[in-house]
Amino acid sequence: MTPDLGVGMLGGGFMAAVHSRAARAAGARLVGLVSGDAEQTAQAVAELGFERGYASLAELLADPAIDVVHVCTPNVLHYEQAMAVIDAGKHVICEKPLAVTAEQADELVRAAADAGVIAAVPFAYRFHPLVREARARVQAGELGQLTMVNGTYLQDWLLSAMDNNWRVDAKFVGPSRVFADIGSHLVDLIEFITGDRIETLTAVKQTVFPTREGSAVVTTEDAVALSVMFRSGAIGTLAVSQVVPGQKNRLRVEIAGTEAALEFDQEDPEKLWLHRRSHAERILREAAYLSPDAARLCRVPSGHPMGFQDAFNSFVADVYTAIETGCVPDGLPTFADGLRAARLTEAAMAAADSGRWVALNPNVADLKITEKVA
Ligand SMILES: NC(=O)c1ccc[n+]([C@@H]2O[C@H](COP(=O)([O-])OP(=O)(O)OC[C@H]3O[C@@H](n4cnc5c(N)ncnc54)[C@H](O)[C@@H]3O)[C@@H](O)[C@H]2O)c1
Repeated sequence: MTPDLGVGMLGGGFMAAVHSRAARAAGARLVGLVSGDAEQTAQAVAELGFERGYASLAELLADPAIDVVHVCTPNVLHYEQAMAVIDAGKHVICEKPLAVTAEQADELVRAAADAGVIAAVPFAYRFHPLVREARARVQAGELGQLTMVNGTYLQDWLLSAMDNNWRVDAKFVGPSRVFADIGSHLVDLIEFITGDRIETLTAVKQTVFPTREGSAVVTTEDAVALSVMFRSGAIGTLAVSQVVPGQKNRLRVEIAGTEAALEFDQEDPEKLWLHRRSHAERILREAAYLSPDAARLCRVPSGHPMGFQDAFNSFVADVYTAIETGCVPDGLPTFADGLRAARLTEAAMAAADSGRWVALNPNVADLKITEKVA
């Protein structure tokens, strides 16, 4: 890594801290930051170890020392801020959801491709080594014909009417809360591992707390349940919720085929289960026995547990490799993947609102950006 790859940060909260640690681990220079106001900017600069703060995004973008900008702000700001970064000719990592409408996400994909910048979205669960192992085993045909996928992403941090956050308010989060926020990770992970595409879906949504402390009327959903059909003919169920007691960040997928089934739980990411009719194998994160892509992402020897920040560090390291070499490493989630999640979010909300099955347009949903950036 070139030691002076310059990082600019937008936001100073939870994810700005995660991104900053990953940027530092990759050997980049933490140049400057803008957060919500001058006081928050100064505090975040000090806490996250940046060299300076700026009064505005425009000032940050005018700094020639900044090569890549990480957008870690509330969802409705992503489109405008990421577009400004692209317009300034800088590389961009924009948090999920990439945008609050698929139309905006589509514009960002095209703008990034036209500008020739690297544009990535942190679907960082892809960077657990055993997720790569699961993907490699599906690709090798070990599961047989894909038949069923069951996935859940469950949390409990909004389990009381007293719990509130900007994420509850459509003004900051857009038309979908829980699906855009964590359903986006779930569908990305499933499509990444299977290489399959959800073609049609139907959904129901639920707002358990119609009012919350500090919010007049809550218009965003607490939970969504979906039935889905894949291009391959596989069927599945998905459930996402932020109001399930005891569940903290339970992203879990079961992928079944005619020969075998895989099970991965991101709260227990050092294990991958491979079930057969006769027996089950618990696959451990032991690099010498894993596929090359999974082994590549093992940051420490097995028995020394890796977790969320490690996966995030690998994601950011791959983005910086793409910036430095112009070659996008296999599996890097780009703005095209952010668009895909935005389309699935819109489809899920349309299905829930109409009570109908919704089909995704396979042509636009699979839009890819170039593998090699000039
Ligand atoms: N990839 C992941 O695994 C993951 C996990 C959690 C959150 N996220 C995403 O990250 C984003 C940020 O979430 P968070 O948990 O860090 O939220 P947060 O509330 O902790 O932080 C948001 C930050 O944005 C700042 N901010 C507000 N307006 C701003 C502006 N105009 N310019 C610059 N900064 C501004 C706030 O001051 C705050 O520091 C969200 O879009 C969320 O969906 C992603």
